[in-house]
Amino acid sequence: MLTISKGRRTTGKAGQETSETNDDDVTQIKKKNKQREVSGSVFGVVKHLQKMGLIVLVKEWWWTLQFVCSIEFWRMALLWTLSILYSYYQLFRASLFSPKLIPYPRCSPSLTPSRPVCLITGATSGLGLATAYELSKEGYVVVIVGRSQHLLSETIRKIKDWNADAHLKSFQVDLSSVESIIKFKSSLRQWLLDSDLHCSVQILINNAGILATSPRVTAEGYDQMIGTNYIGAFVLTKLLLPLLESSPVSSKIVNVTSFTHRVVTNVQFDEGTVSGKRFVRSKQYPYAHIYEYSKLCLLLFSYELHRQLCLMGKSHQIFVTVADPGVVQTNIMREIPAVLSWLAFYVLKRLHLLQSPECAVNSIVDAALAPPGTSGAYFFGGKGRTVNSSALSRNAKLARELWETTSYLLSVTPFGAKINNF
Ligand SMILES: NC(=O)c1ccc[n+]([C@@H]2O[C@H](COP(=O)([O-])OP(=O)(O)OC[C@H]3O[C@@H](n4cnc5c(N)ncnc54)[C@H](OP(=O)(O)O)[C@@H]3O)[C@@H](O)[C@H]2O)c1
Repeated sequence: MLTISKGRRTTGKAGQETSETNDDDVTQIKKKNKQREVSGSVFGVVKHLQKMGLIVLVKEWWWTLQFVCSIEFWRMALLWTLSILYSYYQLFRASLFSPKLIPYPRCSPSLTPSRPVCLITGATSGLGLATAYELSKEGYVVVIVGRSQHLLSETIRKIKDWNADAHLKSFQVDLSSVESIIKFKSSLRQWLLDSDLHCSVQILINNAGILATSPRVTAEGYDQMIGTNYIGAFVLTKLLLPLLESSPVSSKIVNVTSFTHRVVTNVQFDEGTVSGKRFVRSKQYPYAHIYEYSKLCLLLFSYELHRQLCLMGKSHQIFVTVADPGVVQTNIMREIPAVLSWLAFYVLKRLHLLQSPECAVNSIVDAALAPPGTSGAYFFGGKGRTVNSSALSRNAKLARELWETTSYLLSVTPFGAKINNF
């Protein structure tokens, strides 16, 4: 008979049984303890994770709060909104008072004897991706430039899914590195020579850009935002001028700028400012101001390049235009706290100011396919429409000053001779 009485039994057999029963008890207790241990440690891990999650959450909210309390945030929220409204006001005024103003038509390329080549930087996301797709539909061989090999492969796959006839080629280039751009120029030239294409580029679209909220420095010692948004485009354009010049029909440079350039009212073009070293050293990184400044520099560069091409008698061969896409829902705000970028997009959508990349790409495609003779035009609002950029951006003396400082900055790098032969 089996009686369990806390492990005590009298008969031998029963004792045997008892001892078996005791063993069972011990095993069960051990099992329970183990379960408790496991559940205790799982509970501990969960608790730890909760604590960590909470810490991350608190940190995120603290960062967001600091962001909201910064001057730069309000500069973006208020002044950028006013400057985009001013651009739309220009469109509205033109439709009222200059109804005869004819928008620029789009000209499709000739695909014979060989397909023309169009190069787009920052084509792995947002506007660059949308532009690459649109121009692939026009029959261009689209050269996609990006800094991540993985994203480049993804981009090719996406565009091929949307347009099976697309002719694409990708190159991994970091536009914030002068060395990387120089290497790219050689690879591009070699690829063109090895292909059955004409050894030239018909459209160059300088689209890559960032809105960095913390200071970072490039290999050449420039602020990364200025290095990517302006100096990278300056270097790439100068290096590709011979390929643009070799185009059998007139070629085009499209610089993608922004309405935010209007906020800048006072500029300096000394070495510290153009390289961005002055900003990197400052206590609070003025990211909104640097973004506006870099976009203004790109505009001044575009107009100065046009003037220089005129002086060299090449302005009928190479056109320089500018495109402003407006406010677009892309990844450009990736460094802004998620809740704030979501809120900004929500408010802008409510104000009917926010566009999708597929819609905003129109100003870039308008500029790329505009007829010859559109140098200096500032495309905005799609449908071939243009507006005026700020008065400061059209100051020829400032543009010359910026050109000279940038050329000097590049001349003191190990690659100076390769870039400054224009
Ligand atoms: N979104 C707007 O509201 C707006 C308004 C006016 C003007 N813009 C201008 O439009 C252009 C495109 O921006 P987006 O809105 O399409 O932003 P996005 O989605 O963030 O795309 C930016 C592209 O630039 C690339 N890029 C960044 N740094 C690079 C580098 N060092 N080398 C090579 N590629 C680099 C990015 O590549 P990764 O993916 O590898 O980072 C990405 O493909 C920018 O010049 C921006 O200033 C945008």
